[in-house]
This record gives sequence, structure tokens and C-alpha cells, in this order.
Amino acid sequence: MSGRIDAVLGMQWGDEGKGRIVDWYARGYDVVARFGGGDNAGHRIEVGETKLALRLVPSAALHPTVELFVGSGCVVNLEGALDELARLAEVGVDISRVRFSDRAHIVLPDHGVLDRAAESARGEQRIGTTGRGIGPAYADRVSRIGITLGETLDESLFRSRLRAIRSAHERAVPEPSVFPDFREMEDRLLAAAARLRAAIVDGVAYVHDRLAAGKRILAEGAQGTLLDLSFGSYPFVTSSQCTAGGICTGLGVGPSAIGRIIGILKAYTTRVGEGPFPSELHDAAGEHLRAAGREFGTVTGRPRRCGWFDAVAARYAAALNGAHAIALTKLDVLSGLDRVGIVTGYRRGGSPATLAEAGSPDFAVEIEYLDGWNEEIGSARRLGDLPDATRRYISRLETLVGVPIELFSVGPERESLIRA
Ligand code: GDP
Ligand code: IMO
Ligand code: MG
Repeated sequence: MSGRIDAVLGMQWGDEGKGRIVDWYARGYDVVARFGGGDNAGHRIEVGETKLALRLVPSAALHPTVELFVGSGCVVNLEGALDELARLAEVGVDISRVRFSDRAHIVLPDHGVLDRAAESARGEQRIGTTGRGIGPAYADRVSRIGITLGETLDESLFRSRLRAIRSAHERAVPEPSVFPDFREMEDRLLAAAARLRAAIVDGVAYVHDRLAAGKRILAEGAQGTLLDLSFGSYPFVTSSQCTAGGICTGLGVGPSAIGRIIGILKAYTTRVGEGPFPSELHDAAGEHLRAAGREFGTVTGRPRRCGWFDAVAARYAAALNGAHAIALTKLDVLSGLDRVGIVTGYRRGGSPATLAEAGSPDFAVEIEYLDGWNEEIGSARRLGDLPDATRRYISRLETLVGVPIELFSVGPERESLIRA
């Protein structure tokens, strides 16, 4: 009997609490694997005194026996990955469990330069990227000039691929001097690749050997469904596939290997970066969410835009992922609001509308308000511990999204969870 791949992924615009939810589910798995994105991700976990913000390494780092895999669909900044591993080793994490697929692509210093230059050229139309070169690295992969981690293992091949990619980048900009000195970059990258060498494996064999041995794999999403390249709020998206479909292309497995999909929804909505956000608040309630939820970017420190739970977007995301169940996070953050809103409909000129129309001037949302609650709920461990108003709110969300909620989080620490 072969193993199975379950998944935990975000169903809003990222930062839903994937890190802490993966940390919770991970105890039932042998391997936790990232299938896409790069160090644009920031996944926080808190276990006792240990607080980590993981970028590339899967969020099971604090489970000593779980294997950690950075899959083929990811993009890896070599020096960033080494720094992250060093930081984890400092807090006692056994980093010999971390493996990187040879098919993952590398993010070069050039990509960061190109990312930031494209953002400033876009002006008012900027995406608000993390500036980490993610878009240009994926673009080079699609253009078939990217460099895989596997190619870094052969020094002369790596050197010639670096020269070729730098030439392509120089042809793409009016002023080639924007890029870092080639020789220096080459030396640094060769040194970094040599240090990462032992952790680079055949990414397809890695997954399939474990499936054949009956091991259980948990796929960890990065970013969120509404940032997905194909189905998100394009063009204000990231450059990778964040939905469940990305598990197949990012780990190299067929759909028959996929088991349960757990979609994470925050009890309200946040977005960092530009682009449409139908349920965004610009009032005291939005300020409350930002302050109480500590909604500041893990990677860039930017204040996150905050708004009500958007049930239209959540239903759309649940459908795109085929979610079997939901983990609802940060419920505690809503305490202290007189009323809590839920976006239940989008309209444009009197007719139902979709997220794709959210930028147009005659776009409007329908909001349903429920009573809020004042009680602190961080110590609740059973649904029965929650105030009636909180229970009415979650039951309404469940009905509107149409998928059962099986886990609720009421604080950032590992134990601050309620099972349905
Ligand atoms: P991710 O990118 O989806 O992993 O989410 P982030 O880690 O970027 O952002 C979620 C933030 O909320 C982190 O700082 C978490 O520690 C915190 N967090 C997660 N769950 C809860 C919760 O239930 N309540 C509160 N108050 N904070 C939480
Ligand atoms: P986690 O995994 C929130 C957003 C950026 C920007 C857009 C494109 O922590 O949820 P990029 O640098 O990817 O080209 O930026 O996507 N973005 C995220 N927002 N959480 C993330 O990751 C994000 N990763 C990218 O803010 O709007
Ligand atoms: Mg994050």
C-alpha cells in the first residue's frame, strides 16, 4: 500500500497562519514538503520559548523526527537558505533532515534587482512584491534560462549557466551596471552551492521512494489561493501555483496521490501588497484587527491591510482547492468588536459580480453583521468554552463557505487550538 499526500494550504491572500497549523498537523506525518514559492513566504510558529519565522524550510522544524523537504516547485535563494538553516541550527533544530529537490530553481541576486526595478517601473500599478526576486526567478524558469539546484552540483556547468543567464539579464535592461559584479557573485554562489550540496537530492525519487515505503507526506502551501498565479487576483498575485493543483506539479505526483486538503482561513482577511481587496476596512474596526492581530508582514515588516471575513472569496478558494475541511485561525483577534462583519456578496451595477471585477468603480459588497463579543477566548480549548456570539459567528462562516471547520486557533502558541 503506497503512502498518501495530505495538504495544508492558505485560502486567502497569505498569512492565514499556515506555519502554526502545519506545526499542529505535522505530528501525524513522516515528511512535510513545501511545493511552491520561495523566501517570499514567512511562516511563524511558537512553541514555548521558541519562536521561528520560516521562509523555505517546512513548518515542521520543531518536530524532531519529521523530514523536511523543499520541493521541485520551489525557488531557492542559496545564501538565504544557508542563513535560514544556520539560524535553525542555532536554536537546536537538527537540519540534517532538510532536503532540497534538484529540480527547484535558484533565485539569483540578479532576480532581486530585476524584481525591484520592475516594481519601480510600474509606479502606481506596482504589485507590492516582497522584492525577493521571486517573479523574475519563475519567469526565467518559464523562459528556459533558469538554473536548477541540480545544475549547481557541476561546477563548470554552473559557471557557464551563470554566464548565460547574466547575459540574458543584461540584454533585458537599459543599464547593465545595476547587477552585482559578476565575478564576486559567481564566487559567492559557488561557495554557497558547495555548502548546500549534501542536502540536494533527486526530488522525484525522494517523494516516490517515500510514498512506496508507505510514508505519510504533508504538503505545506505557501502564499495563498488568492495570490495564485492562475486563479488569484491577477496581476496582483505571486508567480507560483499556490492551490492544491500546485502539489502535483510542485512535488511531481499524480492527483491519485493526494488525500485530504485542509484549507486555512483566517477569521477575518488580510492582504499585504497592492491589488483588489473587497472586504477591506479603513476604519476603527480595521485598526483593531491590525493591532490585535499584529498584522505586520513577516518578511517585509509592512502593515497588512485588514478587512472582514470574505465568504465569497472563501467559497471560491474552497472550490479551487477541493477543500475537505477548514482550519479557522486567529478567532481571538475579533474579541472586543461590537459587531463583526462578513462579506456575503459582490455586486456590480445591481448584478452579482466576481473577484475579477473588484477593481471596477461600480463594484460593491454586501455585508452581514453579527453581534461581537468582549470575552478573551485565548484560553478556550473546547467549543463549549466559547461565548454564544463566537459560536454563532463560526457556524455562519461554516454555512457560507460550505466546508466543515475542524480546527480553530485562538492564539499563536502551539496549544492554543480547539478541535471541532
Ligand atoms: P503564514 O504565512 O500563513 O504561516 O502566517 P504568518 O505566520 O505570516 O502570520 C500569522 C501570524 O499570526 C503569526 O504571527 C502567528 O504567530 C499568528 N497567529 C497564528 N495563529 C494565531 C491565532 O490563532 N491567534 C493569534 N492571535 N495569532 C495567531
Ligand atoms: P506566506 O506564505 C502574504 C504577496 C506580496 C505581493 C505579491 C507578489 O507567508 O503567506 P512576490 O514577492 O511573491 O512576487 O509578491 O504576493 N505575497 C505574500 N503575501 N504572505 C505571503 O507568504 C506572500 N508571498 C507573497 O506581498 O502582494
Ligand atoms: Mg506569512
